[in-house]
Amino acid sequence: MSDPARMSEAEAANRLMRLAREIARHDRLYHDQDDPEISDAEYDALINENKAIEAAFPHLVREDSPSRKVGHVPSSPLSKVTHAVPMLSLDNGFSDEDVRDFVGRVRRFLSLADDVPVALTAEPKIDGLSCSLRYEHGQLVLAATRGDGTVGEDVTANARTIADIPQVLEGAPEVLEVRGEVYMSKEDFAALNARQEEAGGKIFANPRNAAAGSFRQKDASVTASRPLKFYVHGWGEISAEPKPTQAGMVGWLEHLGFPVADYFKRCDSVDEALTVYAEIGAARAGLPYDIDGVVYKVDRLDWQARLGKVAKAPRWALAHKFPAEKAETVLEAIDIQVGRTGKLTPVGRLQPVGVGGVIVSNVTLHNFDEIDRHRLRVGDRVRIQRAGDVIPQVVENLDFDAAREPYPRPAECPECQSEAVSEEGEVDIRCTGGLICPAQRFERLKHFVSRGAMDIDGLGEKSIAEFLELGWIEKPSDIFTLKAHRGELLGREGWKEKSVDNLFAAIEARKGFDPGRFLFGLGIRHVGAVTAKDLMKAFGSVAALEDVARSEEAMARLSAVDGIGAVVAEALIDFFHEAHNREEVALLLERARPADYVSDVQETAWSGKTIVFTGKLEALSRDEAKAQAERMGAKAAGSVSAKTDLLVAGPGAGSKLKKAEELGVRVMSEEEWLAEVARG
Ligand code: IVH
Repeated sequence: MSDPARMSEAEAANRLMRLAREIARHDRLYHDQDDPEISDAEYDALINENKAIEAAFPHLVREDSPSRKVGHVPSSPLSKVTHAVPMLSLDNGFSDEDVRDFVGRVRRFLSLADDVPVALTAEPKIDGLSCSLRYEHGQLVLAATRGDGTVGEDVTANARTIADIPQVLEGAPEVLEVRGEVYMSKEDFAALNARQEEAGGKIFANPRNAAAGSFRQKDASVTASRPLKFYVHGWGEISAEPKPTQAGMVGWLEHLGFPVADYFKRCDSVDEALTVYAEIGAARAGLPYDIDGVVYKVDRLDWQARLGKVAKAPRWALAHKFPAEKAETVLEAIDIQVGRTGKLTPVGRLQPVGVGGVIVSNVTLHNFDEIDRHRLRVGDRVRIQRAGDVIPQVVENLDFDAAREPYPRPAECPECQSEAVSEEGEVDIRCTGGLICPAQRFERLKHFVSRGAMDIDGLGEKSIAEFLELGWIEKPSDIFTLKAHRGELLGREGWKEKSVDNLFAAIEARKGFDPGRFLFGLGIRHVGAVTAKDLMKAFGSVAALEDVARSEEAMARLSAVDGIGAVVAEALIDFFHEAHNREEVALLLERARPADYVSDVQETAWSGKTIVFTGKLEALSRDEAKAQAERMGAKAAGSVSAKTDLLVAGPGAGSKLKKAEELGVRVMSEEEWLAEVARG
């Protein structure tokens, strides 16, 4: 992560926008699809990066910032419920020092002297999903998931199928909302996955996902068939609070019939709480369920009430997270995968080993330098780490010191036997087979139709594999002649008239498509979506770009484009140098006929004028304001001079406004500028 202190405002705004998008995507994968791509630790790192940038640029905090959201509203057919009392989340700490700081903050907030003891409760942080159970007159009337903290999903029928959840309470106040964690034990998770595998059902990545997938079911009989459990950890609305402390309340809830997690303890000091953390940490691997930390809460409820919350988490609680889990096993094989650009990636196959409830049998080895760094050989004992849920990695080779020949670097591609080479100064080794390599062929087709490129709906990985296998497509241009196989396709399993029609309609719809996305889809090395757009803006069409890339002064002309450096220029020249690439591009241009680049710059009264923005803008981000000025044909500059035609000044404008007034430059408010934009 780059240091926020060194970021420019534009860089910070841009990074915050990307983080908001990226984190929202991971939220959807985690909550809606129960299928995360990154580990919790990696997710936390994104959240922390967002937090650090926002702390450095508080005026750039976005409406949709992840820091403003408590959780995620899942997209599901279950009906929505608004929580009577919001369901909060927890702040995280990772070290003893973080825990001491937390108690220090509590003391300062409450103005407590150093010798006043702050009692805490400590309990395991269970890796499940939180649930609120509402009892009225002792009857369970509503169960809801957390959702975004304000609105969750109605899972009442599902909750009724869980044996740990009482349907009726004796001696409960008129209204009582009990909150806790729905989870699945490690053993039940393994058994469920085995059953699922046999039945060809969905395999869950970990017990948390299995619990979420089982609990959030439209059909409660599915939930009933899944072994879910419940632990209480708090409460929401309550008509009368019978005890003055967290520990007292938890004891009372236990008495009412709710299971409390083992190791729950009231502690008189931070030191005692940290001892519980160590005890729970030592017991972790042997616990029947997954936990990912210890939660501390200020014991006195009157203090909790005074402490209140900040944004999304209470000031009176902290989740002390455990470091990533590790395990030892044997590296049984090293396989080599071939990517879209021919990059060879080594993947370690392991003797399967459990790491915190998940069976791990593959590790990513990143590249061949990584293999050398650990001096890995097949047969070595390795320590691996599951830095959360998904991609385990090798942290140590326990046979590092054994004298052996280093692992040989591949001289040829394992898929097509073409020569494999590493370019100077590059870590990666690449297959030189290009389109004759079946692995690259598959990856390139996938890339061509992908969301950021041609976005051809209905042509997913499975269909591509099927059509490749049948020999109907080999390269992107073949997609546009697929229609010739319509009759045969209709005779194949899984294809009906409607899905076939939809597929061809989706392909047809991409004729005359955006040239930047088309260019990006070609998968030229170093040409990402933004670079592709810049190139089309500069040259107008792929055919024109090809002419430039093949001209004598290609390097100079390409590098002259804003944002295009020598690496991209060279990649373009190399690509168009190859006859087979030119043939494919020619076919594609003929069949897909991408549009020419259309500039969105308008001819307006501001064309050719120079505009400066200063002060705090309310409706627009600085980047947006500049882009808008450019679309109006104007140039956005950073400082006021005699050449400035207009200063758009928001509140807090200082020296620039003064200078503009001195120079007699026209000044407008943001609102007036927006009216100009609307006029066009
Ligand atoms: S207390 C106001 N205690 O962790 C405090 N949460 O990261 C709200 N969780 O949404 C939660 N074990 O789903 C609390 N012993 C525990 C917990 C726990 C697991 C979950 C809960 C919460 C999430 C926050």
